[in-house]
Amino acid sequence: MFTSHAVELSEVALVNESLFNNLADDIYSKGYSVLPNALPSYLADGLYQYLQVMPEQKFDSAGTGRDDLHIVNQFVRTDEICWINGDTEIGTAWLKWTYELQQYLNRRLFLGLFSFESHFAHYAPGDFYKTHLDAFKGEANRVLSVVVYLNPQWNLDDGGELVIYLPSDTDVAQVKVTPSFATIVAFLSEDFPHEVLPATRDRYSIAGWYRLNTSQKDRVDPPK
Ligand code: OGA
Ligand code: MN
Repeated sequence: MFTSHAVELSEVALVNESLFNNLADDIYSKGYSVLPNALPSYLADGLYQYLQVMPEQKFDSAGTGRDDLHIVNQFVRTDEICWINGDTEIGTAWLKWTYELQQYLNRRLFLGLFSFESHFAHYAPGDFYKTHLDAFKGEANRVLSVVVYLNPQWNLDDGGELVIYLPSDTDVAQVKVTPSFATIVAFLSEDFPHEVLPATRDRYSIAGWYRLNTSQKDRVDPPK
């Protein structure tokens, strides 16, 4: 028997199927994908609502750490982050969706994605993240970066674009992505330098990374 709930579920499955298909085609043909207004609305709305009720103290400065890199990091990035785990319903729904994408990409592109980690990021007006790579060649760690945006009614002159550069040339911008609500971006972590430009208003995103299994005989890599 079809209930309206079952119909809704199958609609979500169809939306995901075509979205995952577009994303895989883009990654295969050019190494990155930008899909405006693509995150299923139950996730985009749920994640946005969660951000509205989340206490500000849950965010930690991304440039702060106990390590020696702390000073350097503040020149590189000034945003604040909060890691996402399965402790909340929406966190679990997000991780379920990213796991479905992981399985789809492994089937289609044989990427061997093994685990996923992600955090909310808050960029206050003027915050930035200078040009960087999410992974370094040969370190077999982060393979695919995924970013989604949670900013309703973003205007072009609000700034805050994600600039993705050509793999071979950090002077040539390949695309400038407006951080509009429910836009999904994915790119090969080792290949595309990118940066976040300052915005004139608060900017919220989720950044996540799929990793390979880098477990060795004497060192087990737990999936995060
Ligand atoms: C990152 C990142 C991009 C963005 O966190 O590594 O590049 O647009 N984020 O928030
Ligand atoms: Mn990055």
